[in-house]
Amino acid sequence: MNSRLLFLSFSLAVVPATAVAQEKTDLDARVQQFLDEHRWSWRDANVPTSDGQALYDLIVENGYTKALEIGTSTGHSAIWIAWALSKTGGKLITIEIDEGRYRQAVQHFEEAGLSAYIDARLADAHELVPALPGPFDFVFLDADKNWYTQYFRDVLPKLEVGGCFTAHNVSDRWRGRRGRGMRGSGGFVEELRNTPNLETEFIMTGGGLSVSYKRAP
Ligand SMILES: C[S@@+](CC[C@H](N)C(=O)[O-])C[C@H]1O[C@@H](n2cnc3c(N)ncnc32)[C@H](O)[C@@H]1O
Repeated sequence: MNSRLLFLSFSLAVVPATAVAQEKTDLDARVQQFLDEHRWSWRDANVPTSDGQALYDLIVENGYTKALEIGTSTGHSAIWIAWALSKTGGKLITIEIDEGRYRQAVQHFEEAGLSAYIDARLADAHELVPALPGPFDFVFLDADKNWYTQYFRDVLPKLEVGGCFTAHNVSDRWRGRRGRGMRGSGGFVEELRNTPNLETEFIMTGGGLSVSYKRAP
């Protein structure tokens, strides 16, 4: 190959790669700025930063790409999840029943530059979750606690082997007065424990997070 041709093919290969890298750096800066600016202004039962970071780490470390969130609120956890998916090349479906919160979340996704990674749905998750085809490899459950077990039963068949089901405000340690666990999640924790081929651990640095890996069909 003559030197001009060599230079041309080098440029064609390198320039787009550089442009993509720059786009990713820009996105990181934009998301980081958004999170910094909003750090103390989450008021709608949103996850604390440490749990957002934990969700991010789980997705990036395991390379998950097909994510579902039940309970968007105004979008704090979804921002962390979608940011991680921007690294793995994935996409998030997130569900919220309250229209005001849904609209605010959509605005936040736009501001953070993450809209392309998020399919936000205004819906009752009781109806939508069973109707979604899946498959998913990452699920974050953070909606009405008394429905946790039912959500889990609806999602589990659509969770890929190797996938991860996480749920917020859950603990196996702290049991409420009637032994029902954190905010009534005791029955749900038992369900996790009694499900074959599921390995569960707990992250207790924030609001309490169960992390369950599906090891076999
Ligand atoms: C704890 S907040 C979610 C916080 C969010 N994950 C975050 O960190 O920003 C729970 C949300 O679930 C929503 N929710 C409750 N029941 C629901 C249902 N049946 N379908 C969809 N969303 C529901 C509530 O409106 C509320 O905004």
